[in-house]
Order: sequence, then structure tokens, then C-alpha cells
Amino acid sequence: MVNLKIKTQNNEFNLTKEEGTNLKDIIKSEYIDFKFPCGGKGICGRCKVNVIKGANAPTKPEEKKISADELEQGKRLACCFNLNSDTEIELTEKTSGLLGSIFKNKK
Ligand code: FES
Repeated sequence: MVNLKIKTQNNEFNLTKEEGTNLKDIIKSEYIDFKFPCGGKGICGRCKVNVIKGANAPTKPEEKKISADELEQGKRLACCFNLNSDTEIELTEKTSGLLGSIFKNKK
């Protein structure tokens, strides 16, 4: 199990998840209001998040859709990012375009 901290503009959430869990699956299962325009296929490059801690090697879609500078700054595609250690991510207005009501149906 790994610890995941998700920071938003207004909130911070701490979760425990199985190692290898995909970040898109977590965002969806936690009802986070975040768009995956291509359905999470790694095609559109629009599901960028900031990985503050726990970044692993970028996947091929991430290498195609994220510049080297952005990768260095911690930008990743939520749909292509799997947890492999304790991780901290940040969802910003710029990356999600939706913030304000991030957890619309939080359990
Ligand atoms: S949703 Fe399109 S690249 Fe992630």
C-alpha cells in the first residue's frame, strides 16, 4: 500500500491505495471533478497534474505530450501515471480547468 496526498486549490486529501493503482482510476473512484477529454487513452495530453513527490519514469504518452521542461517540473498525465511509492500530487486550476468544486460527490 502507498500513501497518496491530493492537493487542490481549496483542499487536501490523504488516501491509501494499492501500489500500481492508476491515478485516473483514483480520481474517478473518489469523485474528483476532473476531465479526461480522450477518456484516459494518453492521446489528448489534457489531464496534466503536478507530481510533487513520488514521480516515476514517464510513460511513452507522457514523453509525447509533455515537454522535457514540464516533466522536469513534475507535470504528468493522470491517466498514464501509476502509483509506485508514497505520492503527492497537486491539481491546479490551470491543469484541471474545473476547480472550485473539486469533490462534487465525495462519499
Ligand atoms: S485524458 Fe487524454 S491524455 Fe489523459
